[in-house]
Amino acid sequence: MKVLIIGKGGRENALAWKVSTSPLVTKIYALPGNVGMKKYCELVKLSDEDIAAITQFAVTNKIDLTIVGPESTLVRGIVNHFERLGLKIFGPTLEAAEIEGSKTFMKNLMKKYKIPTPNFQAFTDYYKAEKYIKKMGAPIVIKADGLAAGKGVVVAFSEAQALSACKNALLHGKFGESGKQIVVEDYVVGKEFSFMVMVNGDKVYPLELAKDFKRAYDQDKGPNTGGMGAYSPVPDISPEQFEEALEKIMKPTAQALLQEGRPFKGVLYGGLIATDKGITVIEFNARFGDPEIEVLLPRMKSDIVQVILDVLAGKQPVIEWRDEVCLGVVLASNGYPKDFVKNVIIRGTESIGDGIFHMGTDIINKQLVNVGGRVLFSYALAKNFTNARAKAYNQIEQIQSGGLFYRKDIGVHLK
Ligand code: GLY
Repeated sequence: MKVLIIGKGGRENALAWKVSTSPLVTKIYALPGNVGMKKYCELVKLSDEDIAAITQFAVTNKIDLTIVGPESTLVRGIVNHFERLGLKIFGPTLEAAEIEGSKTFMKNLMKKYKIPTPNFQAFTDYYKAEKYIKKMGAPIVIKADGLAAGKGVVVAFSEAQALSACKNALLHGKFGESGKQIVVEDYVVGKEFSFMVMVNGDKVYPLELAKDFKRAYDQDKGPNTGGMGAYSPVPDISPEQFEEALEKIMKPTAQALLQEGRPFKGVLYGGLIATDKGITVIEFNARFGDPEIEVLLPRMKSDIVQVILDVLAGKQPVIEWRDEVCLGVVLASNGYPKDFVKNVIIRGTESIGDGIFHMGTDIINKQLVNVGGRVLFSYALAKNFTNARAKAYNQIEQIQSGGLFYRKDIGVHLK
């Protein structure tokens, strides 16, 4: 069968590699794809946001299955378009993807269906937000309502920082349309983890857990990013907590979307936190987590294509895991998540082979260079975290570039 993977990041590189191992697949297209996907896919030079052109491509090339990576493609309604034409696609409709596309929608859904999430208020008016923040005090969390590539969240430890985040979004247009409304949320403390489940309506099939590192710098300092490293499984979360998250959050959320007339199909990603009072929802995404899926797919024994086909057919998929851990570290462009210099030469990746996914690279004048905020993902599978971490960081030692930085503390507390 012919598979089309939409997107150009590390998530899509990991998907392309895993899909290429499926005996069901004869050809993979990546749209637009990246340098790391070239060895598995034919790259298609179209924008992953041009829904009409992508649909036309899928029809012309008789694509049997399309897997959507980025949220920005989903919220443009690609699944609605494909389904209207009877094309098989794995991802939620525009209406179901709103769980990621609007934080206000997500929070109101949680409230209506009594799914645990921190208290919140939504604002479009800066002065009302200011009054609320002065009443609540810091720490407090400010979130742009719409999509912001993981950069729209400020965990404010002072009132001044909170007010500045509100001003940036509501008065200065820092996030454009995405920040015209904000959610102001209680700050909660606990162990954060990412829980992805494959969903088709009321059927929910869990993947194993992963842990993401959202802050830019070591010891969770610095601004929020799309994620600077990940590992799986998550030994800090007990089997009882896994069950609690599945039964009290993930399944009820799929059910709530169904009841709202927005049945979800695809990957529902819960950004969850285990607090003293139980597990609660920090965020929902409507797609595979990036970089979480980069550490989950190497651990997955099963054929991801068969799993997706089964989920789409409403059948229980067989999802088996290797008895190994996986840990990975993001190399990001200096300055990320703010402005950064592009086209800095990167050397040494060829000698690493497996163990690198490309996130934001290109080849210019026959040289590998950075073009994205997150550039490369060095990962390793091993029997334990000590070995996986050593291998992932050793691979980084082989990469030479003046333009990249990375966190040194991914999974350091794990043996
Ligand atoms: N790593 C977080 C995300 O995929 O949104």
